[in-house]
Amino acid sequence: MNDLASVIESARADFAHAGAPAELEDAKARYLGKAGLVTERLKSLASLPVEEKKARGAEINAAKQAIETALAERRADLAHRLLEMQLAAQALDVSLPGRSRGGGSIHPVSRALERIEAIFASMGFEVADGPEIETDWYSFTALNNPENHPARSMQDTFYVDLKDDEGRWLNLRPHTSPMQIRHAQAHARRYAGTAVMPDVRVIAPGRTYRVDSDATHSPMFHQVEGLWLGENVSFRDLKAVYLDFIQAFFETTELKLRFRPSYFPFTEPSAEIDVMFEHGPLARRWLEVSGSGQVHPQVVRNMGFDAERVIGFAFGSGIDRLAMLRYGIDDLRLFFDGDLRFLRQFA
Ligand code: PHE
Repeated sequence: MNDLASVIESARADFAHAGAPAELEDAKARYLGKAGLVTERLKSLASLPVEEKKARGAEINAAKQAIETALAERRADLAHRLLEMQLAAQALDVSLPGRSRGGGSIHPVSRALERIEAIFASMGFEVADGPEIETDWYSFTALNNPENHPARSMQDTFYVDLKDDEGRWLNLRPHTSPMQIRHAQAHARRYAGTAVMPDVRVIAPGRTYRVDSDATHSPMFHQVEGLWLGENVSFRDLKAVYLDFIQAFFETTELKLRFRPSYFPFTEPSAEIDVMFEHGPLARRWLEVSGSGQVHPQVVRNMGFDAERVIGFAFGSGIDRLAMLRYGIDDLRLFFDGDLRFLRQFA
């Protein structure tokens, strides 16, 4: 092997050995630098006889080129390796499962409420919404509950530090019954002076308030009011509608309803509605779910209708109570504590 061939070989070996760009540049200097092995040979050309200069010069140049090529290759190699290392360090593993954002879910009371709305809508009832802060007249007086009458304590509620037009404190509605009046009034106004026979079919679900707090009572709770007024709407219709509703809500026909005589100032006769399941953990016990009755003629008049022509029924059911029975929950307060362990069960 001539001297140039061994220089090329050792340069290649040195380059291959250099593990980093700086080492490679040091190795390059040993061959191509000012005092490098190739540079020295080029300098030594000067002392050669003219006839040898050309051939030797060409050989050295070829060797220099071979070394430069090897150098360029090794540089590219190292740059490539560096890139690979960077890519590996910043790797994005797209095969990892995504982190979920912890999806929310519908609250069991809202869920019950949506079901109630859907069931009554399918029976031709409108769904109405009304104010939670009420006047004395809508919460009590219009519902045949005279001022200072002891029956008002059945629905003892909270008061707001503001007075209505009659100078009476505004209240947080103790039941959804004010919505009977509001909705029926709007209906009576709409058809006033026409021959249209009133037909009011509405439910009004929403928040209600009372001075009450234990495992089955909360100061804030939910009711759904139902009202059907017309020419010939009777207690019999109440029984049919309510039975249909309860069967749809609990998805079973294996239950019984009981209408137990009761008292409300705004209905006459009045009844509490109890349900008894034939099967399941609650079987064979009467469970109260609603107040109800035939709308009192004075209330019909307060709505703006002729009580001689318009008759019907109303009911007011506890939505929380219905949800508790449906989902087997024994403490009402769980609904309002906001404990995720409880709420996740309904996700
Ligand atoms: N408003 C009554 C209550 O909350 C329930 C009810 C509504 C009774 C409609 C009869 C008719 O106790």
